[in-house]
Amino acid sequence: MPAQIGIDIATASTLLKQGKLVAVPTETVYGLAANGLDPESILGIFEAKNRPTFDPLILHVRDIPMAKTLVNGWNNTAQTLAEAFWPGPLTIILPKSDIVPDLVTAGNTTVAIRIPNHPLTQALLQLVEFPLAAPSANLFSYVSPTTAKHVADQMIDRIDYILDGGECSIGIESTILAIEGETARILRLGGLSIEAIETVLGHSPTETLHKNSNPQSPGQLEHHYAPQCRLIPLCKKGEPLLSLIQLLKNPLLTPNFGILLFSKQELNVEDTFYLTKLQEAGKNTVYILDELGDIAKAGNKLFSTLRLLDSDGCKEVYFSWAPEIGLGRAINDRLMRAST
Ligand code: TXA
Ligand code: MG
Repeated sequence: MPAQIGIDIATASTLLKQGKLVAVPTETVYGLAANGLDPESILGIFEAKNRPTFDPLILHVRDIPMAKTLVNGWNNTAQTLAEAFWPGPLTIILPKSDIVPDLVTAGNTTVAIRIPNHPLTQALLQLVEFPLAAPSANLFSYVSPTTAKHVADQMIDRIDYILDGGECSIGIESTILAIEGETARILRLGGLSIEAIETVLGHSPTETLHKNSNPQSPGQLEHHYAPQCRLIPLCKKGEPLLSLIQLLKNPLLTPNFGILLFSKQELNVEDTFYLTKLQEAGKNTVYILDELGDIAKAGNKLFSTLRLLDSDGCKEVYFSWAPEIGLGRAINDRLMRAST
């Protein structure tokens, strides 16, 4: 039976207690949740997503005391970060405690934890009383969902309930920090900016963002978060966008091409004129993440726009980068992986 979509947290909680799978809203992206202490339920997540079991899951908890039961070595750095940013788009990684099943951590000795910032999921966490293991609620390596409809599009026949909490307010996955002693290392750029972390820690976390296949954090595989269409950068990251006219006039351009721009302000008068003419002739589609180039708003629209490229039937999409500051870095990280 296809999953029901609704806002009934009592139903969601009953299903989770029975070992079933429930998609839940968070401020970052929708998660596909199961009882994070029950290996059989957790296995269901991997099956529903076609996710390899070497890719560990994040445990979502309701408060810091619950987080502490899942780790060994909660320390000052963890406490400082948790107090500053939870509930919120930060996942921290610490050595796991014995109650965490190996399936959650893919056999690693560490576990990833966060408190999500969404009222429905927070209420659900109060009802179930166990942590929720939840990866993003999409098929493995596809774009993460930011609405209940995105979840339904891929997962409705694979899961038991979809808790509809509206559109995710941030729209990009959490930032992941590994806490090693009292130092913090960034494993994934995400919804919390490095600048904000720096302000709280008083120094910059170290960065070892893996480009290549990294079995410890497979979300960092080079090709990930990817739509079906081919994404091609219009320029090098950090360099200004040059005129699009040469590209647009190229006779070899495929008919189903699209242009994905960070903002409208990157276009010169001639580009705008020519693109408008093309659009009027039904020849291509221009997607703009935010007209005025607001980074948070652009980030919020990124994943829904990537899904739209596929549903609109685009085959090749030329894109521009976000500025390399704040959440712009996370946007560029996702664009880079989607285009690899
Ligand atoms: O915002 C988010 O983080 C969303 C929402 C639902 O919370 N979740 C999410 O989960 O993005 P997922 O599974 O799609 O991405 C989690 C990433 C994966 O790349 C995984 O490899 C990494 O976290 N991860 C989990 N546990 C880890 C661990 N112990 N060590 C290193 N990486 C870990
Ligand atoms: Mg994911």
